[in-house]
Amino acid sequence: MARSFSASVRRVTLALFVLQLALLPMMAIASDADPEQDFCVGDSNNPNIVNGLVCKNPAEVKANDFKFSGLANPGNTNNPLGSNVTAAFAAEFPGINTLGISMARLDFAKGGLVPPHTHPRATEIIFVVEALNSQNPGTQIQAVALFNSKINEVVLEKAFGLGEKAVQHIEYTVEAANAVN
Ligand SMILES: *[C@@H]1O[C@H](CO)[C@@H](O)[C@H](O)[C@H]1NC(C)=O
Repeated sequence: MARSFSASVRRVTLALFVLQLALLPMMAIASDADPEQDFCVGDSNNPNIVNGLVCKNPAEVKANDFKFSGLANPGNTNNPLGSNVTAAFAAEFPGINTLGISMARLDFAKGGLVPPHTHPRATEIIFVVEALNSQNPGTQIQAVALFNSKINEVVLEKAFGLGEKAVQHIEYTVEAANAVN
C-alpha cells in the first residue's frame, strides 16, 4: 500500500514536471515583442493605419520630439468629476511611441476623483506630489472592492452617476452576497 502510494506521488510529480516544461515556452512569449528600432517617433499626420502610430522618417526626427513640457501645467478641475488628466501619450509626446511607456499628470479638486478603472496588460506607477488622503481597495473583485469597502458613498455616486439610494442598495446586496460566501 505504502509503496503504491509513493509510486503514485512520483507519477503525479513527474506529470506536473512535464506539464511545467510544456508551459515554459508559453511563459517566454507572454509579453510584447521588443521594438525593432531604438525609436519610432509617432507621426500623427500619417493617414496609414497601424497598431499605434506610424514612425516619422528618422531623417526628420527633431530633438523636440523627445521633449514634453505639458506635465508642468495644472489641468482645470472645474468639471463634474473634479479631476483632470493631462496625457503625455504618443499622440501628445511622439518620442515615446512604441517604447511601452506613457505618462499623465492628474490634478484633483477637493473631493475630485477618477472613476475606478483598469489598465489591461499595463503596470501603473503613481507618484504623488501633493495629497491629503487616498483610497486603495487593492483587490480584484470589483463589486466587493467598490461597494463593500470604506470608499465614501459620494465618490461612488459621482463615479457611477448613481443617486444615494442606488449606491446604498448596491452596497446592501454586495454585502449580503459576500456574507453568504
Ligand atoms: C483639463 O485642463 C485643460 C487645461 O486647463 C483644459 O483645457 C481641459 O478642458 C480640462 N479637461 C476637463 C475634462 O476638464
